[in-house]
Amino acid sequence: MVMEFREKDLDLQNIISDEVNKYLKRDLGMMAATKRAPQQLIDKYEKMEVPEKGRDIYDIMNELDNEILEYIHRGNHPRSFSFIPGPGSRLSWLGDILTTANNIHASNFKNATLPISIERNLVNYFAGKLGFEIKPAGGVFVSGGSMANLTAVVTARDEKIATKEVYRAVVYISDQVHHSLSKAFHMAGIPKENVRRISVDAEFKMDLKALAETVKKDTEAGMKPILAVGTAGTTNTGAVDDINGMADICEANDLWLHIDGAYGLSHLLSTKGRDLFPGIERADSVSWDAHKLLFQTYSCAMVIVKEKQHLLNSFSEQAEYLDDIQSDDDVIDPEMIGMELTRPARAVKLWITLQVLGEEQYRARIDYGQRLAEYTAEIVEEMENWKIISRPSLSILSFKYIHPNLSEAENNKVLSNAAQRMAASGYAVTYTTELNRQKVIRMCTINPETTKEDIMGTLNRLDGFVKDEIEGL
Ligand SMILES: Cc1ncc(COP(=O)(O)O)c(C=O)c1O
Repeated sequence: MVMEFREKDLDLQNIISDEVNKYLKRDLGMMAATKRAPQQLIDKYEKMEVPEKGRDIYDIMNELDNEILEYIHRGNHPRSFSFIPGPGSRLSWLGDILTTANNIHASNFKNATLPISIERNLVNYFAGKLGFEIKPAGGVFVSGGSMANLTAVVTARDEKIATKEVYRAVVYISDQVHHSLSKAFHMAGIPKENVRRISVDAEFKMDLKALAETVKKDTEAGMKPILAVGTAGTTNTGAVDDINGMADICEANDLWLHIDGAYGLSHLLSTKGRDLFPGIERADSVSWDAHKLLFQTYSCAMVIVKEKQHLLNSFSEQAEYLDDIQSDDDVIDPEMIGMELTRPARAVKLWITLQVLGEEQYRARIDYGQRLAEYTAEIVEEMENWKIISRPSLSILSFKYIHPNLSEAENNKVLSNAAQRMAASGYAVTYTTELNRQKVIRMCTINPETTKEDIMGTLNRLDGFVKDEIEGL
């Protein structure tokens, strides 16, 4: 007897449209920016068994709506200022719905021709913004900045050194680089002791004198410097390394130059554009996240390499079970230039958003985020005992409370506790980071739905939490 499969009899049409309507109508600003699940719910879901017979879908929806999706950090909340927020546009999730509904297999051109044409079109578009002249540029959409960095590191390694020599390979990063690079080096087989962490200057940019000296020392010691990674918008402070200066050192010493612009490079679409990143056209590769400041939902990012052949060298493989769909002409299948075979058509949602909003709206939104960071700094400067530690750079700033009668350790503790209390209140998320061994509050103001009232409300509450903490000392 043929088994009867359940699904058709579920009221999915109503459930899906109700859910979509609910999300379209909700006012995120009225919700908690972050909410941690109580232990009893953690226990419930960690211990829940898969039933022999399926449960009622309305019970499941109830659990989703009131429990599972209730206790999360909302990176798209207008007062979510920590990490790099994820202000995903509703246009992007329209793209998500359509691409997942069609379950597009965007591995090969023949399987998803127009979605991949769109991907190639966007890679070229962003390569043009970078000033890369070779066309078509090499690039592939990946899940995030970490995967983009990994893809670039593997490509650089393959270009610069033979596999059996990798033990001699030396790579250079600043001490402000994103930690995904350390993971990428490990996965690329670069020994930990061959990773040079170059110090930064007062503006948190890589010290290029130190870089040049370290490269020279390594070369003289018989090592093989292969790669320097600069950042266009560091996670901590939004600092942009001196890309031209790095490119000079890389060219003189035959190093690959990778620029991690996961969040920062989207500022190429702002009014200031390329002026913010002099020399970016000299990079060999870049990482660029669309799920940060190109207003996409997770997970959507790009790695773009100046010469597509380099990606092909590292990632193209033949497989007999793909004979009928692998391309044999100039068309490059995404699976031939990246790690993933089965992959979603990530570019489609970005294409929808760009086509509907146009460059004008992108420019206005990104400019707005930069102005909000400036506005935040102006208010902080007026507040008693608060001090700016890193000035706004690409919409990130950091600052701290320094009470003259407290020790540095006490001031640090007060600030950390205030950040935790802010999160517990649900009003905003303003976690700390550490700069020059000092705790600081760090805010990244890239959400176009954040208002000046949101900024004022957040700063006033921070000040209140700090004062409460000091009273309790
Ligand atoms: C500069 C930089 N690089 C890489 C990443 C990692 O990106 P993802 O979280 O998308 O893997 C981040 C994340 O914030 C980042 O700020």
